[in-house]
Amino acid sequence: MAIILDGKKLREKIFEDLILKVEKMPVKPTLAVILAGDDPSSKIYVNNKRKCAQKLGINSMVFEYPSDVSQSEILKKIDELNDDKNINAILVQLPLPEHIDKFKVIDRILPSKDVDGLTTYNSGKLFSGEEPFVYPCTPKGICLLLDEYKINPAGKHVVVIGRSNLVGKPVAQMMLRRDATVTICHSKTENLAEITKTADILISAVGKNVVGEKNIKLNSVVIDVGIFKDLSGSIRGDVEFDEISNKASYISPVPGGVGPMTIASLMLNTVELYNKQHDL
Ligand code: GUN
Repeated sequence: MAIILDGKKLREKIFEDLILKVEKMPVKPTLAVILAGDDPSSKIYVNNKRKCAQKLGINSMVFEYPSDVSQSEILKKIDELNDDKNINAILVQLPLPEHIDKFKVIDRILPSKDVDGLTTYNSGKLFSGEEPFVYPCTPKGICLLLDEYKINPAGKHVVVIGRSNLVGKPVAQMMLRRDATVTICHSKTENLAEITKTADILISAVGKNVVGEKNIKLNSVVIDVGIFKDLSGSIRGDVEFDEISNKASYISPVPGGVGPMTIASLMLNTVELYNKQHDL
């Protein structure tokens, strides 16, 4: 039976440590979140971020806008937050409404306040092998989870399914930095199973049920980043957990695997940005 990569447990460990660190800070870090539109999942995610910040003593502010908000209004808010010395971290919750240019919006955030590490500056630093202000939250969470279980990707074949800017592309870069041999697969990949079967570490970030027993190698590590509701309303990941639990050596469950690590990374990044802004 595969060992469970327990993101919930690691998140609690990270939070215990962060609570002590934040307690000692004379001024508490502040995270500002922009939420535009009425995507129900986004509302839940943002509410969870607010609750976690509160638990840790981190200040958080949420600026909510209707789905017909203009791009200029969002840009104006980002300018205000950039100029406000009391704001240390800015997050624009994605997806944004269709009429808004997400690249333009994200790039308006000062790189030193970009808590998602998604601006051109920070992703450029990541892709060129330099230090960004912070690393994107979900990929960072995956790395922390692998570190906790002493899984070293160096020299291993890491296969990533998904090529999003939030997860697929940055996690591939972070694995490359850790000396893995990396393959990125996506919706147009032919013979997906032929490739995924060669993975020592398989990271699936699709949001659809794509990984079953036939896709994985014996004793591989399987990281499931997908989270969605199936037709019966149950929360599911990309991976058929029951099918592979006797074949993989480690699996991250959904829920309770990567999800809690994303939020832990967001909190870590908020404190990290505060410290960098204060030369700590
Ligand atoms: N939407 C889903 N995940 C994320 C995330 O990590 N950051 C942002 N900004 N939006 C998201």
